[in-house]
Amino acid sequence: MANSFDVIILGGGPAGYVCAIRAAQLGLTAAVIEREKLGGVCVNIGCIPTKALLHSAYIAGLLKESKDFGVEVGSITTDYGVAMKRSRRVSDQNSKGVEFLMKKNKVTVVKGSGVLQPGRKVKVGSEVYEAKKAVVVATGSRVKGIPQIGLEINKTTVISSDEALLLEQVPQSLAIVGAGAVGMEFADIFHAFGVKVTLIEALPRILPIEDAEASDALAKSYKKRGIDVIAGAKVTKAAVGKDKVTLAIDAGGEKKQVVVAAVLMAAGRAVNIEDIGLKECGIQLTERGFIKVDKNLQTSAAGYYAIGDVAGPPMLAHKGSREGVRVAEILAGHRPHAIRYDNVPSVTYCHPEVASIGLTEDQCKEQKLDYQVGRFPFSANGRARGSGETEGFVKIVRDKKYGEILGAHIVGAHASEMIHELAVARENEYTVEEVDLAIHAHPTMSEAVAEAALDSLGRVLHV
Ligand code: NAI
Repeated sequence: MANSFDVIILGGGPAGYVCAIRAAQLGLTAAVIEREKLGGVCVNIGCIPTKALLHSAYIAGLLKESKDFGVEVGSITTDYGVAMKRSRRVSDQNSKGVEFLMKKNKVTVVKGSGVLQPGRKVKVGSEVYEAKKAVVVATGSRVKGIPQIGLEINKTTVISSDEALLLEQVPQSLAIVGAGAVGMEFADIFHAFGVKVTLIEALPRILPIEDAEASDALAKSYKKRGIDVIAGAKVTKAAVGKDKVTLAIDAGGEKKQVVVAAVLMAAGRAVNIEDIGLKECGIQLTERGFIKVDKNLQTSAAGYYAIGDVAGPPMLAHKGSREGVRVAEILAGHRPHAIRYDNVPSVTYCHPEVASIGLTEDQCKEQKLDYQVGRFPFSANGRARGSGETEGFVKIVRDKKYGEILGAHIVGAHASEMIHELAVARENEYTVEEVDLAIHAHPTMSEAVAEAALDSLGRVLHV
């Protein structure tokens, strides 16, 4: 039957398309239903174009200091429109890459919005597709505004990352509401492009899910650069005008007002679960509004699975992709390794980058764990000095008794790359001694990882 497949996946983002590839690798027939471009938010209006813009921001920052490196470039001008167009080309390339992967793996791509039906079916327009083994929901998430305080996204003065990624020109001033990954990354980008940025975070510190030392380092770095950082401050009301927005802010009882040309909402994302037939198929939600899944990612309805953002936090592409692989392997009759949700790396690609794995020091305290912290600053690392990237540190929290890595936190250039050594170590339950046993090449920034491991044992060499 033309409309019958082993697996039908609703949503072609990093969770969905990866699930399709793995299913095809294992000999299953798979179809992906996608209404927009393949690759989802990540490829089209998320991770990938943002990283392209962050690289433009990095170049702008680097050029400002180039004289110190013996390279003079004259006056520097920035053009967001040019950077934006470059980022679009990067996104398009990636999306085309996903199209190619679908063809290569003989995955059928159905264009349109799918609605689940009982009996492992999905309706797209007038067509009904039937899955022999399972339907996988991977519909992802979208930006949410805060309409209750007047901050509804209007795409001109109140924008989300979706619009920010398509701007031809930057506003003169911008308030960013929320200092999670989205807020941090866009504050970095827009500041580099000459915008007066005010970053507002309701919780006591920016990047609140990261270790407090990482938050502090970033707050200092941003303030030094001229970004206005207001933490412990809630936006309580907004008056949205034609070309300006006035925000009323309550900073622990102290009232403030911020007037800006535009506001970027970065206060979290909402999952795409409406109008896709969940209820009709008996698929239940959690209290927090995600799709309820068991450890195999099966929903409350047999034959329906959920992966990626809709299946719960962390709402990260790499977590979704891993879930996609797991479901495909389960459907093919394998018994895949369980996903260690406590070992999903978290990376914020602002400058300096922030990357972490496992517990923060505060979480270790809350859990009354017996731990020892090891630290190594990049200011003491030869490679970092050579490239002038001495901001930040590596921090490792070691379990005192067994030497296990409870958590690791890196702030600095290339933190996003360096964290994986520690992710592998944690996944395999290596001790800090075992991390240091592997010889780290000199001079590299990764030496700071080995030094932080040694510091947690009281044996640091270079400070
Ligand atoms: P988030 O939930 O990570 O952060 C939102 C922040 O907004 C929170 O810290 C919250 O306290 C603050 N907030 C909420 N209401 C507020 C108010 N009225 N006033 C001031 N602050 C307020 O959400 P975000 O950054 O929008 O990201 C959404 C999802 O996408 C997250 O799961 C994030 O991890 C993921 N993401 C990951 C990236 C990465 O891995 N580099 C990049 C971008 C997004």
